[in-house]
Amino acid sequence: MSVVSIVYHSSSGHTKRLGEAIAQGVASVSRCRVETHAILEHDIHRGRWRNDAIIELLAASDAVVFGAPTSMGDVSGAMKCFIDATSSLFYTRRWADKLAAGFTTSFFPSGDKVHALQTLITFALQHGMLWIGHNEARFVESPPGVYEPHELNRLGGWMGMMACSHPWSSPDEHPDEADIRAARVFGSRVARAVLRWGGEPAEGAEVENA
Ligand SMILES: Cc1cc2nc3c(=O)[nH]c(=O)nc-3n(C[C@H](O)[C@H](O)[C@H](O)COP(=O)(O)O)c2cc1C
Repeated sequence: MSVVSIVYHSSSGHTKRLGEAIAQGVASVSRCRVETHAILEHDIHRGRWRNDAIIELLAASDAVVFGAPTSMGDVSGAMKCFIDATSSLFYTRRWADKLAAGFTTSFFPSGDKVHALQTLITFALQHGMLWIGHNEARFVESPPGVYEPHELNRLGGWMGMMACSHPWSSPDEHPDEADIRAARVFGSRVARAVLRWGGEPAEGAEVENA
């Protein structure tokens, strides 16, 4: 059984809701189990996040999906504290060759979500992880609409799962149904990638100074 972990920060529940939909997508794929971990502010002391149990569970996962609200054009501060806390794993390469993916939600259709996802991508690549993006691409040739608001991946982001949420809405309202459906599809894509990538690492020495 492959394990996909979803680790996220959410201040007011919208990113959490998106992560739940991704978890449903993962769970829809047989031979994949999903675990969800919240990054909580009470694990942050003097700017440092610490929760050794979560770190161990992530290390035991085949893939990790990182989620955060877009906050001032980047991941939220709590997510950044989590990211910084993993620097102790950098030299151990414990997360190398795991699959990774990311999701974010913010108020505006753009809202600079791309930059938040770039932070997550850079973070995952620093750990030697392999990044999975979205694969939904629909093109509706019906002018004058610029995009179709009910389509999967309606915001047209392939770096990861992007959604919109009004800051004062309930997480039951936003992300809306289109984003929730897209998140489920995204979760199943991650799970299928894990099964495809799974198995033993290839034999043979790494090429040094080639
Ligand atoms: C401090 C702060 C900064 C924010 N910055 C942005 C932003 O840069 N772009 C944007 O579109 N929305 C921004 N928002 C809106 C949040 O991204 C949005 O409310 C999101 O759904 C919050 O997710 P959460 O409920 O999981 O905490 C910001 C909200 C807060 C509170």
